[in-house]
Amino acid sequence: MGVVDRAEATLLDGRALARKVLAGAAEKVARARNATGVTPTLATVLVGDDPASATYVRMKRKRCDEVGMASLLIELPRGTTTDELVTEIDVLAADAAVHGILVQHPVPSPIDRRAAFERIPVPKDVDGVTSAALGRVILGMPAYVPCTPAGIMRLLNQYEVELDGVRATVIGRSPILGRPMASMLINAHATVTLCHSRTRELSDIVRHADVLIAAVGRPRFVRGSWIKPNAVVIDCGYNEGNVGDVDFEAARARAALITPVPGGVGPMTIATLIDQTADATLAQLGLLD
Ligand SMILES: NC(=O)c1ccc[n+]([C@@H]2O[C@H](COP(=O)([O-])OP(=O)(O)OC[C@H]3O[C@@H](n4cnc5c(N)ncnc54)[C@H](OP(=O)(O)O)[C@@H]3O)[C@@H](O)[C@H]2O)c1
Repeated sequence: MGVVDRAEATLLDGRALARKVLAGAAEKVARARNATGVTPTLATVLVGDDPASATYVRMKRKRCDEVGMASLLIELPRGTTTDELVTEIDVLAADAAVHGILVQHPVPSPIDRRAAFERIPVPKDVDGVTSAALGRVILGMPAYVPCTPAGIMRLLNQYEVELDGVRATVIGRSPILGRPMASMLINAHATVTLCHSRTRELSDIVRHADVLIAAVGRPRFVRGSWIKPNAVVIDCGYNEGNVGDVDFEAARARAALITPVPGGVGPMTIATLIDQTADATLAQLGLLD
């Protein structure tokens, strides 16, 4: 059968799975409350006035509400220095009523975002941004992991995508997405190729990928013709106008499974953040089995 004759790819429904993850988080929140009277609390630090970041923060706070979690928002003006941001993080780190700390990225330059992230104590690093979290991910040790790749792994698991021995290609090597994604796939026994802006003959590499993760930040960057027939395609992109990093319609005609944008990776990222905050609370309250 030619590629043109086959059915369109099945959609990986991130919204549906996110609802299940959030239901689990709501149970953990109730457990913390019933046992101790403490309400799990996520503190978010938002620096500057980037409208996309403001939207993400609103969506995360809404999900906190839905599961009964408290959310605290610290808004800092553009022009905040690294020292000022670090001081705010130190206050939250010392506050026993705050169980998780999220510094919304990207933080505006010239703030040293790594210095800010590293200030988050590991037990409250529910977004998995510290070097300790990344190190643990690489080694396959338990950790609060970067939420986007962790959400993607949950999605792949839910749809029983075979990873053992397959060729997986990740485009993008950021510390919050591409790098931990590659490590998680290696730990699941995939054979991983990690591509970035210096990669040569990218389309040829993608053509061999049984599983493709696009985390580039460029609208419709991955062309449909690059997709291996029957591949699994995960599109992390969330560009203006709800456009992903993959040319969705063309890729859907070749892939077996594909994430929609929106409704794929995004909801799983937020649900994972909320779930990890619930876990962090239980750990801090001494309620983990
Ligand atoms: N849905 C969600 O929940 C969620 C969460 C986080 C991110 N995202 C999205 O995921 C995407 C990636 O995010 P990020 O934070 O990882 O972005 P990032 O830090 O800007 O990293 C982008 C990566 O893409 C690579 N790249 C850029 N141009 C390329 C090219 N022409 N060929 C190959 N690689 C290229 C870069 O390579 P170099 O390292 O060589 O510069 C870099 O590693 C964005 O669309 C973002 O909006 C979505």
